Amino acid sequence: MDTSAVSPPSTPGSGRDWSPRSWRDCPALQQPEWPDPVEHQRVLDELGTMPPLVFAGEARQLTDQLAAVARGEAFLLQAGDCAESFNTSADSIRDRLRVILQMAVVLTYYTGVPVVKVGRIAGQFAKPRSSETETIDGVELPSFRGHIINDIGFSREDRTPDPRRLLTAYNRAAATLNLLRAFTKGGFAALSKVHQWNREFVAASPAGRRYEDLADEIDRAVQFMEACGISSDTLSELRQVDFYTSHEALLLGYEEALTRQDSLTGDWYDCSAHMLWIGERTRQADGAHIEFLRGVQNPIGCKIGPTATAADLLAICRALDPDGRAGRLTFITRMGADRVIDLLPPLLSAVGDAGHQVVWACDPMHANTFTADNGRKTRHFDDVLAEVSGFFAAHRYVGTTPGGVHLELTGDDVTECLGGGAELAVDDLGDRYETMCDPRLNGSQSVDLAFRLAELFRDGTR
Ligand code: PEP
Ligand code: CO
Repeated sequence: MDTSAVSPPSTPGSGRDWSPRSWRDCPALQQPEWPDPVEHQRVLDELGTMPPLVFAGEARQLTDQLAAVARGEAFLLQAGDCAESFNTSADSIRDRLRVILQMAVVLTYYTGVPVVKVGRIAGQFAKPRSSETETIDGVELPSFRGHIINDIGFSREDRTPDPRRLLTAYNRAAATLNLLRAFTKGGFAALSKVHQWNREFVAASPAGRRYEDLADEIDRAVQFMEACGISSDTLSELRQVDFYTSHEALLLGYEEALTRQDSLTGDWYDCSAHMLWIGERTRQADGAHIEFLRGVQNPIGCKIGPTATAADLLAICRALDPDGRAGRLTFITRMGADRVIDLLPPLLSAVGDAGHQVVWACDPMHANTFTADNGRKTRHFDDVLAEVSGFFAAHRYVGTTPGGVHLELTGDDVTECLGGGAELAVDDLGDRYETMCDPRLNGSQSVDLAFRLAELFRDGTR
């Protein structure tokens, strides 16, 4: 990895030169106003000297695995927090990983293909906002934009963007990633252990009985393998897992500062995470976010909401995937449970007809948010499940491949989303409502969802 400045190469197929800073010539939405631009630049310069958080070879490996997803030979599970906090404890990081691993075991068994595990973690610190400001009791202050920019408390000091937070974000991401690497390679992720947690979930969950047959089947498969001499003790593949990081590449100064040229290939990589995605609010084909990400060779996601047209998607494909490389581009659709079946099929056909082999992932969270009677922002488990079912149905109808799911969840026992096995009700929301942004599935709702998806796979409705 060469971190020295070199002359920027042009990106093949783009027709325009690209450099890590060429986004600065395009309209950049959702960037904060830094009160002290000189201090901000000093921090960016410092970040530019820091070691990369991930390596180009890892990002290439994820691209290969996502190419398998695009071909229907693997399934993508991308999940984690809506907005990570600088105060997240090690236990909370461990528990989030644990839930994702538990879900992955269930999905691996019932899809019959490898599950590619990508966390919204170790860098998911910046949030796009619908409104620049927030008003409480007649006081208007800048909106909270994520811990990489400002703080959630409602005072002028908390809400003023502070560039030193970029360095804290880098350090928190590094520490989180270090813990994840230790957990995923050090025995915590052993199949037998993860399966045991699922057995405990089934035993303890109010909805558990419903899943007993499913868990028994996995049990028999694990026992069969052990009887054949294949166990976590004998096979490192059953003891270790590959786990990748991702976040929304929103704050472009930070992403630029962590972009490095790979000494092996000469290609540029954004080394802040393995995969970066573009949010629904910043996916303009001539905007700064697409300009920045078109030049880095990491796998790229792009959120697609209900207002997106086929022409929008094709323009994004041309910008981000000019060479039609499977695994390069993931469209993360978030249409709403009641609209997905109408809105998705024409988009699937248009992209397929244009010859782009993208990954299609379903985000069943962001178009199913509503405010409950008590004023809490929430989502209902049934709507989440309904959007995924509609997503599978749309793909069956068109003949395309449903590649995976993109979820907001935590391993903590929060009360932010309604429904699920424990039938969380509106009156329960206030008990442990801890999110800094959107409502997340809690640990048991998440494993619940994996089993409900398993039922869809078993019944052939994927
Ligand atoms: C998110 O993923 O947290 C988010 C803001 O999503 P979207 O861009 O789809 O609204
Ligand atoms: Co969110």
